[in-house]
Amino acid sequence: MKRLLVTGGAGFIGSNFVHHVVGETDAQVTVLDKMTYAANREAVDALPADRVELVEGDIAEESVVEPLVARHDAVVHFAAESHNDNSLDDPSPFIRTNLIGTFTILEAVRRHDVRLHHVSTDEVYGDLALDDPKRFTEDTPYNPSSPYSASKAGSDHLVRAWVRSFGVRATISNCSNNYGPWQHVEKFIPRQITEVLEGRRPKLYGSGENVRDWIHAEDHSSAVLAILERGAVGETYLIGADGERSNLEVVRLILTLMGRPADDFEHVNDRVGHDLRYAIESGKLRTELGWSPRFEDFEAGLADTIEWYRSHEDWWRPAKDATEATYAAKGQ
Ligand code: NAD
Ligand code: TYD
Repeated sequence: MKRLLVTGGAGFIGSNFVHHVVGETDAQVTVLDKMTYAANREAVDALPADRVELVEGDIAEESVVEPLVARHDAVVHFAAESHNDNSLDDPSPFIRTNLIGTFTILEAVRRHDVRLHHVSTDEVYGDLALDDPKRFTEDTPYNPSSPYSASKAGSDHLVRAWVRSFGVRATISNCSNNYGPWQHVEKFIPRQITEVLEGRRPKLYGSGENVRDWIHAEDHSSAVLAILERGAVGETYLIGADGERSNLEVVRLILTLMGRPADDFEHVNDRVGHDLRYAIESGKLRTELGWSPRFEDFEAGLADTIEWYRSHEDWWRPAKDATEATYAAKGQ
């Protein structure tokens, strides 16, 4: 893989992945990113200019995608609208980017016989009961709940169909909730850390009993690279690091790590259709590709992430007030 096209490579996980690739391989990387509100120009600027080129453009536009795909050996497809709450407010960009965008990428890799890795989420499987001993596997039926997860589920189905119908050389990964540096302040963990830094109280949706399975973005990146290099075409791999925690536990831990009383948070309006629990069984990826996570201590990873937000106020500050205004209008 000498020439890699990374869509959404200026986003939270995509930029982390590009950093990982630059460190671990000698590939030349082109980032294709629309530079939406979620993009991090600073994260891309920090990369060596002789290894990484940034192209600003929309994955849903064939005239942008076609010539770029033609000059690369592989595409790693991260670009998406990624926030559930936004998809409940206005689903339309989710349909355009996640569905039309993925279709546009698929048609280009089909025409040029270019290898594709499609990055997706465990939310395509819907949710599990809190007391269910089961976790998601590659065989769990699709059952998405929100416009975001439905659009990602649809994009996965398109990839599967293009593999079977047209012989496209693609793999898919479905990963659990990520945390780490460069995550937008609209998401759960950065929102709570920056609320505490602002001298305000963290905001828990509903009862806070909902469970997410946390993985560090760096571990997601190493798993995607392993699948790109050693995964079997046509296969799906679930990515997870055994990090199940209730939202209540995470908020209490953030408060404790930041030197505040563990119960100094507030309950706000719940999310409509709020998925109860996600949990990943990642045995296939570990056994078949020899992958394992590096950040197994969630508390230590969270402490590092808190320090990162403490020292990067210049980066998150411009997005914070508008994000909070949007939440406040919904009683969240
Ligand atoms: P993000 O919102 O931080 O970044 C998305 C990036 O895609 C941004 O840089 C944005 O500018 C770009 N983008 C959006 N629309 C585009 C378009 N039409 N054309 C080109 N670029 C466009 O998202 P993230 O959290 O980094 O997620 C990346 C991928 O990983 C997504 O596909 C998401 O579904 C998946 N994923 C995320 C998580 C998570 O916990 N965040 C977990 C599993 C899977
Ligand atoms: P989020 O980061 O939006 O990820 P996802 O919806 O993909 O799981 O939210 C993670 C969990 O945290 C989810 O159960 C919703 C909850 N949540 C809160 O309790 N308070 C908040 O302010 C936010 C943004 C999320």
